Amino acid sequence: MYTIVAASQKGGSGKTTLSGHLAVEAARSGAGEIALIDTDPQGSLAHWWNARSAPVPHFVKAGLPDLEQALEGLRLAGIKIAVIDTPPAITQSISRVVAHADLVLVPTRPSPHDLRAVGATVDIAERHGKPVIFVINAATARARITGESAVALSQHGTVAPVIIHHRVDFAASMIDGRTVGEVVPGSASAKEISDLWLYIQDRLSRIVHDPALLPEIKPGHLAISSLLPSEDEGTLEIAAAVAAVVEIPVLEGPERRAALERRVLLEARAHERRVFGRRATDPVQWGIK
Ligand SMILES: Nc1ncnc2c1ncn2[C@@H]1O[C@H](COP(=O)(O)OP(=O)(O)OP(=O)(O)O)[C@@H](O)[C@H]1O
Ligand SMILES: [Mg+2]
Repeated sequence: MYTIVAASQKGGSGKTTLSGHLAVEAARSGAGEIALIDTDPQGSLAHWWNARSAPVPHFVKAGLPDLEQALEGLRLAGIKIAVIDTPPAITQSISRVVAHADLVLVPTRPSPHDLRAVGATVDIAERHGKPVIFVINAATARARITGESAVALSQHGTVAPVIIHHRVDFAASMIDGRTVGEVVPGSASAKEISDLWLYIQDRLSRIVHDPALLPEIKPGHLAISSLLPSEDEGTLEIAAAVAAVVEIPVLEGPERRAALERRVLLEARAHERRVFGRRATDPVQWGIK
């Protein structure tokens, strides 16, 4: 059995959201029997799982004293991958869970506060000699700070080439125990999660030297696609699905059309403005007015 631990000392970075989403995606993609372990006394993941009707992934709530026993039980039950959610801030607790990790995922919001906090989490992983992957979470589409955060994080370790954007459907889908892939399959959010899992599965298989874990699809394209502007296709469909859960009014009829037209116009303008590189003949580059 392999163990993925979601850890970050910074509260609210996305540990619980990503643990739940990745475990569901792992089970859906046929990576074997998957279990979630909630070691956070807040119990957010437990609340989510209790609201869930699907039988997979399996779930265990474990305190630190019984974590080892819980892991052994899952191993004996034939679980292939355990995904463990951890509490924020409590260094000692995080450290004791990270001790069992094959891979540590550190969700990080692209904000100065989150970036400042990563050092402490990285220290814990390093003390245990555990590989770390940063996942940039809740990024704003096309914001410059996202790329800058990736560069800053890369000074500390590997950064996942799949960025999870800030979308209300990540929060809303979890209200009734589901994930974005289950509420709005085919959405941009669902694609981000399936791409992220593909990447993590590939990395994990290399870290633990288990070729049987290698995903069938090569995640080679991910680094390039994450540099491109995020696709907002399906945004309105997502909004509709989310509204069904959290009762947000969704634009209908002429209002919806107007919003769509506005978006198409804005995207066209953004495309015109987008400059990927300057030519030698470009007057601005050569200081010619
Ligand atoms: N990509 C995202 N887009 C929008 N909302 C998000 C995203 N990721 C997380 N959230 C929301 O941010 C809040 C914090 O997320 P989450 O509970 O997963 O963080 P956490 O690291 O587990 O927090 P804690 O440290 O308190 O355990 C939640 O309300 C969640 O729904
Ligand atoms: Mg949490």
